Amino acid sequence: MIRCGMIGFGMIFDDTYRPVFEAGVSVPLYSSATGPVAVTLAAVASRTGARAARYLATHAGRRVPFKNFSGPNAIAELLECGVDAVCVATPDDRHFEAARAAIVAGKHVLIEKPSVLDLRQLDELSRLAAEHGVLAKVVYHKLADPDHKKLRTLYQDGVLSHVNSGYCSLLEPKSISGGQFAEWIAGRNPATYVAVHYLKLIDFSFGPNWALDRISATGQRGLVGPADGLTWDSVQLQVVYRHPDAREAAFDIHTSWVTPDNFPGFVEQEVQFRFDNAVWSAHQRKRGVELTVENRTPGELKNTPNYHYNGTFLEPWGERSQRGYGIEVIERFFKEVAFVEYGVLADARADRLAQMRSLTYNDITADRNCVAIVQALEAILARAVAGVPGCVVKVNGPAGGLVLYEPGSAEPLVLYEGRV
Ligand SMILES: NC(=O)c1ccc[n+]([C@@H]2O[C@H](COP(=O)([O-])OP(=O)(O)OC[C@H]3O[C@@H](n4cnc5c(N)ncnc54)[C@H](O)[C@@H]3O)[C@@H](O)[C@H]2O)c1
Repeated sequence: MIRCGMIGFGMIFDDTYRPVFEAGVSVPLYSSATGPVAVTLAAVASRTGARAARYLATHAGRRVPFKNFSGPNAIAELLECGVDAVCVATPDDRHFEAARAAIVAGKHVLIEKPSVLDLRQLDELSRLAAEHGVLAKVVYHKLADPDHKKLRTLYQDGVLSHVNSGYCSLLEPKSISGGQFAEWIAGRNPATYVAVHYLKLIDFSFGPNWALDRISATGQRGLVGPADGLTWDSVQLQVVYRHPDAREAAFDIHTSWVTPDNFPGFVEQEVQFRFDNAVWSAHQRKRGVELTVENRTPGELKNTPNYHYNGTFLEPWGERSQRGYGIEVIERFFKEVAFVEYGVLADARADRLAQMRSLTYNDITADRNCVAIVQALEAILARAVAGVPGCVVKVNGPAGGLVLYEPGSAEPLVLYEGRV
């Protein structure tokens, strides 16, 4: 059995973790390497505990009882109550401390994206995970989307050759910035939170035989907060990679959390990637289904829903289920933990741990480029707030691993000295 602790019990818990734990009540995970392994939600730590208390009161029968910790000592109490693995789903600037404490306590850890906000934090978590013999992984569900798996397969097989450029757009509704995230949004931006989905897709699908070269960004303010304030409405990020043949590839990633709430798809997501011999265009929600229900779309039900990510179904064989790649990717983490702790085919736990740590789709040691871009982005936006827009961050140049250059200034600002 894997007893799981959940740190953070908000929107994403409800979307993707809850279905995993609710299914785990009746159906254990299974693989031939481990046999059946049950996964249960044993404890929750959150700021107020109110949402978890509501869930405990209303979902009897679909869950096993769990301990509900809240307040300043909640995380420490959760770590002392006998959990084996911990999922961190707090706001993105609160991942590091929670993940660090869990790893030091010897727990396997799954962190929501973005894993952490700078490379020093990533170095520390990677070092501690190795020292304490546990997995430290990050959730990037877009890698499990069948369309993205095919994109990567075609690229890795050489059908799509040499990516040159691309754009990705992910636009969230105003209700996210104005309601859902209102408690922690001050000083934050939508790119750190959602551009990482596409940063990882690009880095993982078209790498690893290329080098991240530089990052630039700009954005808009004035709706979520004051026009000269710290909080961003929308961000346009550009990242440039260099192929081994010295040709460059550039990607523009546009994000927002101020799209109108009645936008038909709720979250608008599309991509285009251009290759020497091909173009790949994809729309996250326009996959064929278009639905209109009087008085229920586009609010409660979506006009162009993406049931591949996450959907509730009446299965042909009569069961009710909730599934999709957003849920599958969480289950995968528990299968990896089960393999480490209960695998019978490989000899030693250390070998099984090494095997699972080598999975670059989710191991935090393989998250360096994404975290580097996030760190650079945050620094560029902070300089813009301070009255210096238009900075560029150069990666692995002569002055250091991550170095910020301001327009008109010859003085570099080293953000990270080591190699990215
Ligand atoms: N994979 C995805 O598509 C996806 C979607 C949404 C959010 N996320 C990620 O999930 C994380 C949480 O997002 P959300 O939408 O659930 O946010 P949310 O605001 O709905 O919930 C945040 C939760 O964290 C808790 N929390 C805040 N500070 C805490 C602290 N110091 N200690 C313990 N608990 C604390 C709050 O009580 C709340 O339960 C973020 O990192 C976000 O990037 C991922």
